[in-house]
Amino acid sequence: MSYFPDSQNQNLHAFAFSHRRSEQMRMNHKPAVIWMTGISASGKSTIADALDIALQEQGRITAIIDGDSVRGGLCRDLGFTDSDRDENIRRVAEVARLMLDAGLVVIVALISPSSASRHYARSIIGNEYFVEVHVDAPLETAEQRDPKGLYKKARAGLIKNFTGIDSNYDVPVFPEVHLNTQALSVAQSVAAILDWVAHNDDRT
Ligand code: ADX
Repeated sequence: MSYFPDSQNQNLHAFAFSHRRSEQMRMNHKPAVIWMTGISASGKSTIADALDIALQEQGRITAIIDGDSVRGGLCRDLGFTDSDRDENIRRVAEVARLMLDAGLVVIVALISPSSASRHYARSIIGNEYFVEVHVDAPLETAEQRDPKGLYKKARAGLIKNFTGIDSNYDVPVFPEVHLNTQALSVAQSVAAILDWVAHNDDRT
């Protein structure tokens, strides 16, 4: 975990991703943006990390864009109002689009709470390349996990506009992949996404 002293927000925790890029080979795989949405502590970063390794083992060139990380750099001027979140999602979608254009499989892990902003991201990236994954955990479960202690702070009123507490999360209606993280292991979640990526290779 690392913190970002320059950021306006001191409640960010960068996930330590297990990048393994040395043996990557370029193959005829279709680029894609795997857009993982879900409340804090739903498991987005953990699944993203395992997915990243699995995709690389297939020879795919990958990149991860994670909310806590971009909010320490590219989006460090943004907070958690609805309009700042929309701007955060817009910037990430634009960067993901650039990476997509470079031929990568891009894994995005952002709460992305509003269905309108997710729809906008899909429009930036292109429906053909966009795989929306709902990393679904009930609020009670996420709150029990609370790996960063943020729900506790939000309940105590120390963090405002916290998703699920005093800020809304629009549950995705038709995600390409729905992961019930209470029922599925990380490996099973990764397998479900890999199925979709393989299917996406065949989409015209
Ligand atoms: S998003 O809503 O704009 O998509 P994003 O995924 O970038 O959010 O950032 C969420 C991360 O910021 C959380 O995992 C958490 O660590 C941290 N965070 C800090 N304040 C908040 C807040 N008010 N609501 C949600 N997450 C917050």
